[in-house]
Amino acid sequence: MFDGVAARYDLTNTVLSFGQDRSWRRATRAALGLLPGERVLDVGAGTGVSTQELARSGAYVVGADLSQGMLHAGKRVRPEVPLLAGDALRLPFADASFDAVTISFALRNVNDTDAALRELARVTRPGGRLVVCEFSSPVQPAFRTVYLSYLMRSLPAVARTVSSNPDAYVYLAESIRAWPDQAALAARIGAAGWDRVAWRNLTGGVVALHRAVRG
Ligand SMILES: C[S@@+](CC[C@H](N)C(=O)[O-])C[C@H]1O[C@@H](n2cnc3c(N)ncnc32)[C@H](O)[C@@H]1O
Repeated sequence: MFDGVAARYDLTNTVLSFGQDRSWRRATRAALGLLPGERVLDVGAGTGVSTQELARSGAYVVGADLSQGMLHAGKRVRPEVPLLAGDALRLPFADASFDAVTISFALRNVNDTDAALRELARVTRPGGRLVVCEFSSPVQPAFRTVYLSYLMRSLPAVARTVSSNPDAYVYLAESIRAWPDQAALAARIGAAGWDRVAWRNLTGGVVALHRAVRG
């Protein structure tokens, strides 16, 4: 599916999120608290748009993704960003290789969420950090109603005019609706071997940043 959306992935994101995706990526970088020279892994990096933002910190960031189409699109538009083929469920890295790991808008797409969270913990050094940036549940009931209506009706219609694979955006809407809310995801992160789990809502909870530390 991601091979099919790769061609216009970056543009479609910005249109569907009304440009909010840029501030969500900046907030992800800030939440990781990266230092120059630290080693950071961006899992589900896609076209490298999330990886590129992280690299602005001066850390050494590498992106990994399963979709050859996304990786090729990324290498075309961001040749300077290191992107590798890799499965979140079986990362091609040794134990404790990274100071920080992160996954943006991709954990929801991995077949086994809990196994991916354990695999992220495996490649992180003790004391290293995790930030998950993912769609979540708006906290204010009236806003949640408007948002869900946008998600299920307008978003697929808008995607038909911008995306290279509009059906993928029907999946996007359905997968967001089925995803655990903030507290439920925090519990799953804790159960996967991470300590000090906390979260922060962005755009009223449309997105949540979960952070945790490797025990
Ligand atoms: C919505 S994109 C997110 C891309 C980027 N992180 C961003 O912020 O825009 C989700 C990505 O997750 C990748 N993905 C899905 N399952 C994966 C897995 N098991 N291992 C690695 N990447 C995976 C897809 O190929 C896709 O590129």
